[in-house]
Amino acid sequence: MTAPPFLTLHELVKKARQKLNHDNWDYIVGGAETETTVRRNRLALDSIAFRPRVLRDVSRVDPSTRFLGRALRLPIVLAPIGGLELFAPEGGAAAAKAAQEFGVAHMLSSVCEPGLDAVAQAAPAALRMFQLYTRGDGDWVDAMAARAIAAGYAALCLTVDTAYYSRRERDLAKRHSRSGPMPQREFQARLSWSDVARLKAKFAIPLILKGIATAEDATLALEHGVDMIYVSNHGGRQLDHGRGAMELLPEIAAAVGARVPIIVDGGFSRGTDIVKALAAGASLVGLGRMQCIGLAAGGQAGLVRLLELLEEEIRICLGLLGVNAWAELDRSYLHPAPPVGAGDTLAAFPLLALDERSFY
Ligand code: FNR
Repeated sequence: MTAPPFLTLHELVKKARQKLNHDNWDYIVGGAETETTVRRNRLALDSIAFRPRVLRDVSRVDPSTRFLGRALRLPIVLAPIGGLELFAPEGGAAAAKAAQEFGVAHMLSSVCEPGLDAVAQAAPAALRMFQLYTRGDGDWVDAMAARAIAAGYAALCLTVDTAYYSRRERDLAKRHSRSGPMPQREFQARLSWSDVARLKAKFAIPLILKGIATAEDATLALEHGVDMIYVSNHGGRQLDHGRGAMELLPEIAAAVGARVPIIVDGGFSRGTDIVKALAAGASLVGLGRMQCIGLAAGGQAGLVRLLELLEEEIRICLGLLGVNAWAELDRSYLHPAPPVGAGDTLAAFPLLALDERSFY
């Protein structure tokens, strides 16, 4: 498939904004209530500077990694996104196919079309994981877990930061339907550690908890045999006035150590952001809104192009840090720094407002 000629990430953002209607754009970029958590995700990343090392022969930079026994071209997972079919006709299948084509991991949301079987068929060779929102009792959850295993998903992820659906005021203000009542939501509020214990006891598939935001809960997760910790504040879409994801990572990485892999998401938009997460102890970075933007801009090819641009940014960043491989990177490459902006939603793309014709 020929990739569209996007030369920078902000060109993809611009194209997505042109193609999406106002409701869908706001649904993607918005967050809960005051959107403070959304901005803190960006601010937390912008509050870290690099400490580069030089003269180390960086002629062999390799940003690939291994995860769940598989080779990945970048340490990236396409985060679970509900309703992708609103932004790209093939929905979750387009994202999974992009993951397969480029070589990153994919996590399918249980509220994304065309559903877990069709997505498995569309991208049989992708490293696919399945994220579940609880919409029924223990038997319902177990049946969904069994279906995911039968369809070849490599891990099961429970999202645990959504006991209540937040007030997304961009949607509410416009009477956009997504914030209305949703059936069976109460099951999500009833989830407890006993459900985690039951799933671990019943199913051999690796279990991930998404939405861990404290060292205490990371420790409890390990005590319950959880196989991976997914550090997330849901992209600032759930609890308002939470900490930025990159602020959460150090305390959780310290609690978890090297015992299980850590996935992190929330505001990761540029190659440098991803490098910061790996230096701080994450194994994989989730892309939420950036995935929506790639798909909205150009479907599967748009998302593949977005990943290519991230790869280029990451390769250059690693080389300029004096690092050839992820194993050489650690916290000594990071340093606290005053952010240069206020963490606005699109702060990672300062050239968005620029008229490109002025370059010609
Ligand atoms: C989400 N997210 C999400 N998470 C989840 O566990 N299940 C889901 O169905 C969804 N749906 C969803 C829809 C949309 C439009 C967005 C933007 C996000 C949260 C997602 O997986 C991830 O945690 C955040 O998006 C990460 O933050 P960034 O990368 O968007 O800043």
